[in-house]
Amino acid sequence: MARVKASRHIIYSALIASVFVAISIIFSCHNEKDNVNTSSQPIAKLPSVKIPANTWRAPDSNTIPKGKTGQLIRYGKELLTHTSIYFGPNGTIAKISNGMNCQNCHLDGGSRLFGNNYASFIAGYPKMNNRSGKIEHPADRIVQCFNRSLAGIAPDTNGREVTAMLAYMKWIGQGVKKGQQLFGAASEKLAYLDRAADTANGRAVFISKCQVCHGANGQGLLAADKKAYTYPPLWGNHSYNDGAGMYRIGNFAGFVKNNMPFGATYQNAQLTDAEAWDVAAFVNSQLRPHKDQHRDWPDIKTKPIDFPFGPYADGFSEQQHKYGPFKPIKDARKTPTNKKS
Ligand code: HEC
Ligand code: HEC
Repeated sequence: MARVKASRHIIYSALIASVFVAISIIFSCHNEKDNVNTSSQPIAKLPSVKIPANTWRAPDSNTIPKGKTGQLIRYGKELLTHTSIYFGPNGTIAKISNGMNCQNCHLDGGSRLFGNNYASFIAGYPKMNNRSGKIEHPADRIVQCFNRSLAGIAPDTNGREVTAMLAYMKWIGQGVKKGQQLFGAASEKLAYLDRAADTANGRAVFISKCQVCHGANGQGLLAADKKAYTYPPLWGNHSYNDGAGMYRIGNFAGFVKNNMPFGATYQNAQLTDAEAWDVAAFVNSQLRPHKDQHRDWPDIKTKPIDFPFGPYADGFSEQQHKYGPFKPIKDARKTPTNKKS
């Protein structure tokens, strides 16, 4: 019951906040400098897009089986949606993470198109992870999100909690085959801009479209009971660290394009691609916890184009790998010597 109330509270506050966003957009038109006013375009101008008819959908939660297996699946879902209550700074099981929920980035319990859903996760493992240079199992991937996105440590991978998370992820991905390409998996890969992403434009987007919920300093909004965030932090001490997937601006831009401001969807996005890239650059240029990553990407040729820390197999700078322009890097990689990446 308390949970139902909490989620209603989020919906109401999101509605109220959207009204504020709309009002602030109207007023901000007068204040912005000419070169940064891309964010003042009315939301309705973006055309809505359709999704393919045979698109993956999460199974209905009414079909979670009864009995012990079902209990485990439901517990897993609860942990993934309200992670902070159990593992945050005031967590009831252990105080081992930053207060974010897995669901903050894996939206709607990891069921949402282009919202980092878990549809093909279990089917795809074990698999080689170029970041660690090792063959990994599903539990390893959960540990990494605890270490990076939740900037903490993970609970015991043999314990009931991780087992429950995996049971839910398996349930949600039932029927998905290894290697199957699903529409709406992970986050959308937006086309590269012809220029570097612009943090000044991004700041203007942030102020007019994000700040109302995520706070003027990106610090988010803690719920009154201090056990969880109503609006999660985008930077600062309590946000994801610089080893997290969201710290790559391509991942961030693709995520916000189809999901933010909260309520936006792939079918009805509210940001242009340029706004999404620029706000990604702005947010990821702000301070956040640092993770030692010197062991990552043992084969530097496999580093993603937008991975912001060198050394690189190409001659491009960290600055360009972080903010772009990315097309020249992509073109350079098409040469036969670098074909694999
Ligand atoms: C109406 C309130 C609202 C607005 C406006 C909003 N967000 Fe969010 N945002 C949320 C909520 C709520 C979540 C967590 C979703 C969940 O847990 O289901 C979230 C999650 C996120 C996340 C993932 C979690 C994190 O903290 O890193 C990012 C990134 C993000 N928002 C970026 C943005 C950006 C960029 C904008 C502006 C373009 C924006 N948001 C505008 C409410 C909002
Ligand atoms: C700040 C955002 C964020 C938070 C919070 C977060 N993740 Fe992730 N997660 C990502 C992104 C982005 C990716 C994909 C990009 C990558 O490979 O890093 C990802 C990837 C994953 C994957 C791999 C999915 C696949 O199909 O291969 C799993 C599993 C996962 N996360 C689990 C978790 C769990 C469990 C938690 C909570 C303990 C969590 N994540 C919290 C952003 C987040």
